[in-house]
Amino acid sequence: MWFFSKASTPINLGAELVVELHNHVLPGVDDGAQTMQEALQMMFFWAEMGYQKVIATPHQNTFMNASEIQLDAAEHRLRAQLQEQEIPIFLTAAAEYLVEPELQGRLPSLRTFGPKRYVLIELGFWASPVGWESLMFQLYQIGYTPVLAHPERYTFADRQTLKSWYERGYFLQVNLLSLARAYGKEAQQKAEYLLEKGWVHFLGSDMHHSGQIALVRQALAHRLVRRQISSLLNPTLL
Ligand SMILES: [Fe+2]
Repeated sequence: MWFFSKASTPINLGAELVVELHNHVLPGVDDGAQTMQEALQMMFFWAEMGYQKVIATPHQNTFMNASEIQLDAAEHRLRAQLQEQEIPIFLTAAAEYLVEPELQGRLPSLRTFGPKRYVLIELGFWASPVGWESLMFQLYQIGYTPVLAHPERYTFADRQTLKSWYERGYFLQVNLLSLARAYGKEAQQKAEYLLEKGWVHFLGSDMHHSGQIALVRQALAHRLVRRQISSLLNPTLL
């Protein structure tokens, strides 16, 4: 049995975000949580913060590629542990796909989440992948709704580019970890810029291990999170 500590439950915004949608909590399937214990620590944190649901998004690309069976097994094992340990939070699993040529072959059976068949898509950090915008269009045509993961982290995207992505209608998911400066000042400032403008659709953690809990907790208290929380779409994923 896990007990919530009163000291660590300040006014928290997890209860308003309701759903955490970008993380690597499934144990042993990618570069995220490696043990059940670590995954449970992360799940406990989200429950303590007031979230009701966690959508796990393990990497699925040529470098990290668990089978459907492995993903389902990890999800079920973690869910069983949540029940056993009485951690009051619901778990489902989708995936995070990297834009790469091999993604084409996967398009018929992407793992989705939420009411609009959202698919979490990430780009390489250093260079804009050739043809990625036509891939976004293709995803819409097939009936998916792509969500661009952590736009603030792409070094090739300046503010003008971020603006153009928003104006083109892309759904944008900013990392809480960016707001806590986990990836440096530039990513933090771009995350703040997107929030200031009201261009963020989803806030996710992108947490990979329990050592990042303190930073995510810190980010949840960010003034811009408080200010923009009512405009975010996280609760629609419940
Ligand atoms: Fe991620």
